[in-house]
Parts: sequence; structure tokens; C-alpha cells
Amino acid sequence: MNAIQISKLSKFYGKTQALHEISLAVPAGDFFGFLGPNGAGKTTTIHAMTGLANFQGGDIKVFGNDVIHDYRKTRALIGFVPQEFNFDPYLSAEQILVFEAGYFGLPKKIAKARAAELLEEFELSGHRHLDYRKLSGGMKRRLLIARGLIHQPKVLILDEPTAGVDLELRLKLWDFLKRLNEEGVTIFLTTHYIEEAERLCKRIGVIHHGRMIALDTTAALIDQLGSHVITLRLDRSFEVVPEPILRFGVELVKQGGNMIRFRKDDERISDLFKTIHAQGIGITGIETEKTSLEEIFLEMTKST
Ligand SMILES: Nc1ncnc2c1ncn2[C@@H]1O[C@H](COP(=O)(O)OP(=O)(O)O)[C@@H](O)[C@H]1O
Ligand SMILES: [Mg+2]
Repeated sequence: MNAIQISKLSKFYGKTQALHEISLAVPAGDFFGFLGPNGAGKTTTIHAMTGLANFQGGDIKVFGNDVIHDYRKTRALIGFVPQEFNFDPYLSAEQILVFEAGYFGLPKKIAKARAAELLEEFELSGHRHLDYRKLSGGMKRRLLIARGLIHQPKVLILDEPTAGVDLELRLKLWDFLKRLNEEGVTIFLTTHYIEEAERLCKRIGVIHHGRMIALDTTAALIDQLGSHVITLRLDRSFEVVPEPILRFGVELVKQGGNMIRFRKDDERISDLFKTIHAQGIGITGIETEKTSLEEIFLEMTKST
């Protein structure tokens, strides 16, 4: 079962097309990363899913329900954490949570109990009666996430929840999201921090200029687009790579140094080692290095 299924979603702002037939599916229980540079169309896509933006083409289903025809049902299945704070300024942290619960039809008593649990979880209990405007930036951010969870949604959609957040809180949020996902909540996380996507997400979709340019598991994306680089430390230094070794596309890490580097190629690796050995050169160290999602991402967004 797909928690989210977007098919050929197109969106125009006036005459400008912001989304070009976006398609993606997020299986139930997944931790999905929606990655793209500023202006790519991430927020627009999320707003289409949550009923905050209309769209001109395609459709979106949440656990099989259409977000337009079954709006109330799909909205109740989704917890939404927006990019910007959008609280009523005159409410306290607790009131914000209880009001939100009311919006989803939770009885007052249950709402209060649930709010207390979330305030505790997000270390806001001591500030629950404080006017929201008096909370620190980090507290507001935590409250925003707590609010998204008040009705125990099956999918949590977060729009850049860690943008501008300090490292300590970021690490805490990562742990929290991991735990939530392990408890069965499907997570759709928007980010432009590649490290975040690489660390947390099982699958990643990359959007650029309103078009999906990649969609795969995190591992496959790194594997397929990235390549492993192997560095060998030799028992002597070289000004140039000896001819027989050069054939393998080997290069010196630094001229006059004893390190050489080549792109991993399973079929040729043993031949390379034999050739080095036949030259009477010893290998004293070996290191492999994986291309990061960062490099892949730069590569992909450069060419389109
Ligand atoms: N309300 C709006 N009116 C007109 N254009 C908009 C509006 N919101 C977003 N856009 C444009 O749509 C594109 C996608 O924006 P957005 O979805 O906010 O990107 P992201 O969240 O990936 O940074 C951008 O070119 C942006 O300028
Ligand atoms: Mg955005």
C-alpha cells in the first residue's frame, strides 16, 4: 500500500508552470526524502498534498484516498509541519495544540491528554502556558512538529524542519523522526540538506525546476550514480604513473607522492594489482571512498 501516490502533478502560478507532471509513490512505512534546491517546487508539491494549493493536472492519493474528493479523510491521515511558523500569536503552546486537535474533531479531554504528552516529548511542558511569541526559535520549531502530530497521523510531512536549526536540536529531531518512523509513521521529509537525506531516508526523490530528476532508494542512488574511488599507498614515490599501470586509468593523488587513485572496477581490480606487483612495486595501504549524495546532487542539478 502506498501512503502517498502522486501521479502527473502539474501546477501553474498564473502562466508560470511550477510543477511538470511530477510522479512519485511513497510506500507505507517509508522514510522518504524530497530533495531539491530552493525554488525547485518542494513546498508547492506539499501544499498540493495538504490542500493548501490547487493544481491543474494529475492527482494525489493518500492511502488510496483522493486529496480533492476525500479531502477531510486525507487531511486527517496527514500530519503537516510547514516551513514557516503560522501560529495564532495570542495562544499559548498548550492552547495551540488543543485547538489543532479540535480541528480534527478530537474530544477536549483526549486533546488535553495528547497535548500534555507531546509537550513532554518536546520538552515544552514548563512553557505550556507561555504566549507562543515568548518562546525561543527552537521551542517554536518543536511546537510546530508537536502540532503536526496531535491527531496521530499515519503520514508526517515536514517542509524543511531543520532549516536554520542549531546542531543540537537538529540531532534531536533526527532521532525523534527515526523513532517515529520505527513506530510505523510514514515520513515525507523535505530538505535541501543532502547529509540529512543521506542519513535518514530510505528512498529519495530529487526535484529540480519543477521536474523529478531522480527517484530511488538512497543506496541505489549513491551506487548507481556515484562510484567508489580506491586509493592505494605504494612503497615508493612517482613523478609519473608507470606506463603499464596508467592503462587502468590510474592517476597520482599528488605528483611526486606515493598515492595513486582509480575508479573501482570489479573486473579489472585484480589485473591492476597483478600489474603493480609485476612492476616490483609494493602496496602498503588501501582506502576506499564513496561518492557522497552531495556530489551526485551537484552533478545532477548542474546538467539540467
Ligand atoms: N504563491 C506563489 N506565486 C507565484 N509563484 C510562486 C508562488 N509560490 C511559489 N512560487 C514559485 O514556484 C516555484 C517553486 O517554489 P517552491 O515550491 O516554494 O520551491 P521550494 O519549496 O522547493 O523552495 C518557484 O519558482 C517559486 O518562485
Ligand atoms: Mg520550500
